[in-house]
Amino acid sequence: MRRTAGAAGATLAMRTVLLEPISFAASARPGPPSDRVRFGIIGVGMQGTGLLRNAISIPGVECVAACDLYDGRQEVAREIVGNPIPTSRRYKELLDNQEIDCIINATPDHWHRQIVIDCCNAGKDVYCEKPMTHTVSEGFEMIEAEQRNKRIVQVGSQRVDSVIYTKAKELFEKGAIGDVCLVEACMGRNDPDGAWEYPIPPDLSPQNLDWETWLGTAPKIPFNPHHYQRWRCWQAYGSGVAGDLFVHLLTGIHYIAGITAPPQRALASGGLYRWKDGRDVPDVHACVYDYPNFQVLMRVTLNTETPEVTRLLGTRGQLEIANNELTFTPQDGLDHGPSFLSNTWPKRLRDEYLAKWREEHPFTHEIGSVEGSHYTVPPGYNETREHLWNFLDAVRKRRPVVEDATFGNNTAIACHMANHSYYKKSIALWDAASKSIKG
Ligand SMILES: NC(=O)c1ccc[n+]([C@@H]2O[C@H](COP(=O)([O-])OP(=O)(O)OC[C@H]3O[C@@H](n4cnc5c(N)ncnc54)[C@H](O)[C@@H]3O)[C@@H](O)[C@H]2O)c1
Repeated sequence: MRRTAGAAGATLAMRTVLLEPISFAASARPGPPSDRVRFGIIGVGMQGTGLLRNAISIPGVECVAACDLYDGRQEVAREIVGNPIPTSRRYKELLDNQEIDCIINATPDHWHRQIVIDCCNAGKDVYCEKPMTHTVSEGFEMIEAEQRNKRIVQVGSQRVDSVIYTKAKELFEKGAIGDVCLVEACMGRNDPDGAWEYPIPPDLSPQNLDWETWLGTAPKIPFNPHHYQRWRCWQAYGSGVAGDLFVHLLTGIHYIAGITAPPQRALASGGLYRWKDGRDVPDVHACVYDYPNFQVLMRVTLNTETPEVTRLLGTRGQLEIANNELTFTPQDGLDHGPSFLSNTWPKRLRDEYLAKWREEHPFTHEIGSVEGSHYTVPPGYNETREHLWNFLDAVRKRRPVVEDATFGNNTAIACHMANHSYYKKSIALWDAASKSIKG
């Protein structure tokens, strides 16, 4: 039997291509002082410190103020910036500061809505961490504030400004892998940090933390250092595995495939199998999503280390992103030989079928060699810096960004659908008319 090229039997030649980062070359030009982008940062914790370091490493960009409810984090902001910048517990002081062009918001999920809306109303562009929302209705209020105030809002789940994902999108749009009917995406972790059991700052107390404000929209409870530092473990502040991790995978898929709406359906399951520390979210979460043209199978575990993989499976091959590398493996999807089932027929029927098959297939599709491609990035490639650069450049040039509030809202809704299905043990349906999840 001859085999389909690209399937077992064909020779697969792979060429390796090193992708050039987009922004590094451009950002090497500092520009005149009037071109400088001045930002303030709200929330200088795990993600905020990284964003701050990355942002101030971009030429022409300056941090002029920082805000955090915990004084220790204000101290760390001053240490990172190196200049005596003003710091505060009150983010509204940053919004009143006329020197500030834009805000980086790296507070926990339950604070995203209020800070983004306040930034937009104060005329500040805002980079807001993922997932954009904590509840479904918040997203539409944030989009309204973004659009009414003509502000640039960029959500921070990376991927969309990564050269790897941009190359995958280009190949997808060119039809390199034909019609994509299925996407698989997964990641896994296996350590306390990965499961959000972060150490508590040793001096944390109600004296150096404004606990009441930190609680925000969450139920009022006495000072609880575990809730403060491990907030992802509770639905009152975070959005579980879906909001923390699905959102990155979903961002990549929505970007590559040009998805501009939430999925139609989500069926999720999972459980809390290992990290029984009082949390009310699962540590294994799997979800099947239905989109108009394909299905997405997604799973994340906090109990075994596995690479982050996104695999788009099409009628002409597959695109796989793993470990910051993209592999394009083509398939021709052609009918390469008569069906082996004819071997189960009597000779007279088989001969007739074979003759007819050959007549209908005048060209032979021999096992050949197919050429795939393997795309890599330079060592130390930093997609977070690219994503930040894109936002700061958009602020300077007043141009739109890809991961705006509408984009961020769609991926956040997909996360909320996975949680809805998991907790309600039902199929979550997106109802566009009422902008809500049914089921
Ligand atoms: N894009 C990514 O790869 C990535 C990675 C990690 C975290 N995140 C996101 O970043 C956000 C922050 O996560 P984290 O791990 O840094 O949390 P964190 O708890 O380490 O830091 C949050 C900081 O915000 C401060 N804060 C909270 N509410 C505030 C308010 N109203 N005003 C001022 N300061 C306030 C807290 O005191 C804390 O220092 C979350 O939305 C998370 O999902 C994104």
